[in-house]
Amino acid sequence: MPEPLHRLLAPPGTADAKPIWCIDADSWPAVRERLPSAAQKFADAAGFEPKPGNHLLLPGAGGTVGGVLLALDKMGDRARNPFLPGKITQLLPAGIWRLEAPPADPRLGALAFLLGAYRFTRYRKSEAKEVRLEVPEGVDGRELTRLVEAVFLVRDLVNTPSNDCGPAEIETAVRSVADRFGAAIRSIVGDDLLRENFPLVHAVGRASARAPRLIDLTWGDAKHPKVALIGKGVCFDTGGLDIKSDAGMLLMKKDMGGAASALGLAQMIMDAKLPVRLRLVIPAVENSISGDAFRPGDVLNSRKGLSVEIGNTDAEGRLILADALSFADEDAPDLIVDFATLTGSARVALGPELPAMFTEDEKLADEIARNAYAQSDPCWRMPMWRPYQSMLESKIADTNNVASGNFAGAITAALFLARFVERARSWAHFDLFAWNPTTKPGRPEGGEAQTIRALYALLTARYG
Ligand code: BES
Ligand code: MN
Ligand code: ZN
Repeated sequence: MPEPLHRLLAPPGTADAKPIWCIDADSWPAVRERLPSAAQKFADAAGFEPKPGNHLLLPGAGGTVGGVLLALDKMGDRARNPFLPGKITQLLPAGIWRLEAPPADPRLGALAFLLGAYRFTRYRKSEAKEVRLEVPEGVDGRELTRLVEAVFLVRDLVNTPSNDCGPAEIETAVRSVADRFGAAIRSIVGDDLLRENFPLVHAVGRASARAPRLIDLTWGDAKHPKVALIGKGVCFDTGGLDIKSDAGMLLMKKDMGGAASALGLAQMIMDAKLPVRLRLVIPAVENSISGDAFRPGDVLNSRKGLSVEIGNTDAEGRLILADALSFADEDAPDLIVDFATLTGSARVALGPELPAMFTEDEKLADEIARNAYAQSDPCWRMPMWRPYQSMLESKIADTNNVASGNFAGAITAALFLARFVERARSWAHFDLFAWNPTTKPGRPEGGEAQTIRALYALLTARYG
């Protein structure tokens, strides 16, 4: 039985699908000639200009909508935004649409269109019209479905407020994906974290009434190359005792964006049945405040045995990731990728749209850059500058969890993590924002999946 298409997709050859004519300044004259004459006259009368982002609904017979014109950037334009087709999704009348004149990359264009249809409807009914898209010619509808489902899963999880998304609910989300694909899953909860040697996950999460946990999913043939995905699952980050400001805390429901991303990528891998031995490790905690909270100045042991002095309880992500990375590293996998909303510094350096990427594997860096570009799922490499390791020195422990001084916060966070990875063949760390501060084409304001489509393409090219 063929897997079903996403509800926003219609099979090719759907009767009455309305045409979307994608044009740019070069192709406009030829496409204009292809329009039915009434539509062509209307476009002229309305003064339609092929300026990127412009769109115009075209009249059909008897007062109906006959289609839509959409102007995109010219190929080769430096500022080209392949996501522009996502701009019209929410502006079109309900119905099934077809890319009559497709954009240069119909797959990305269709994806942008579909991602633009996203709504977070958990707490309020959507007033959005049901707009669907016919699978464009030459595009794999199942692959589109896979990407859309994963991105929507990440967005839903990030958008869900912490009162409905604690460590247990993160586990439930992972379990439901595991069940769907027949993956094995184990969760180590509360004081069991101490017995199973995850002291940092326990320390960060113990102040919350909602028990911390280490969620461990495994899937695939044990003989296949091992790929481990790790995601920071801080369901809410108050900052702990080094408490955040009101403004700094406001968006911290999204501090599990790394966990959501790792889960979304794991889902794509399993859905595509990539021949890898997959391990998904999610430390899920709430960084909360109570009499039992860990404190600045505490010295904690880590799974790896390195002692960590706590310079700031707000640098909690790297602590839980340290134990998760050590755990994944014990398998000596081919590749470890971690995702985390780890530092404000990454956002200061690169802004919300460009996750910071760290790796010391030059070939992997190159593969990431190429796939990020090809999938319009960008990130930017930052240096794992080893000399800054000295900023993390502690006078009484093996390391501090924060750097002294106000320099290079994203780099020193990555360097802290690096101490916990030694056996994996290669490792990449993504410090991401997981959030669209404003609506852009195909990227509605709110939770966002960043870099996972690029990585899915990379893994498919490598192992598929
Ligand atoms: N979750 C935050 C990082 C964050 C803040 C991401 C704002 C996106 C937007 C993280 O746990 C944190 O608080 N990091 C601190 C570290 C500092 C105390 C060394 C930071 O970046 O300020
Ligand atoms: Mn924090
Ligand atoms: Zn955090």
